Amino acid sequence: MSLVKLLSFKSLGDERGNLISLEQNKNVPFEIKRVYYLFNTDKDVTRGFHAHKALQQVAICVKGSCLFTLDDGTKREKVKLDDPTVGLYIGNNLWREMSEFTYDCVLMVIASELYDESDYIRDYDQFLKEVSL
Ligand code: TYD
Repeated sequence: MSLVKLLSFKSLGDERGNLISLEQNKNVPFEIKRVYYLFNTDKDVTRGFHAHKALQQVAICVKGSCLFTLDDGTKREKVKLDDPTVGLYIGNNLWREMSEFTYDCVLMVIASELYDESDYIRDYDQFLKEVSL
């Protein structure tokens, strides 16, 4: 089964431009508790390098592009996000790395929980142990 789960958002655009609405438990498959976004990221920066024990997220590149690498402990898959009508669903226990940001990239992340450092697994060997349990 692919690690890359893409959600397609219907654009309510008209001659004035485009509009996408995100609603919890509708086109976003969980209750939304937090939204954050990354912007002005330098091109050689890599971020992420963690998994979450419980958090679910949807990442949407609303402007520009970046590359996600997902890893479930047995395989790695990459996906380029460059379309504001596409969301990448990232469930729990998935290691993620983000790279190849264009400087204009605005990466918006919708999250199922408030920020909680204790939900992070930031050590890759620890992640491998947790997913093999
Ligand atoms: P970090 O988890 O390192 O970002 P990434 O995984 O995207 O590379 O987060 C950077 C800093 O921001 C870190 O000090 C934690 C803080 N932070 C919050 O306070 N709230 C949040 O919702 C997030 C995502 C991060």
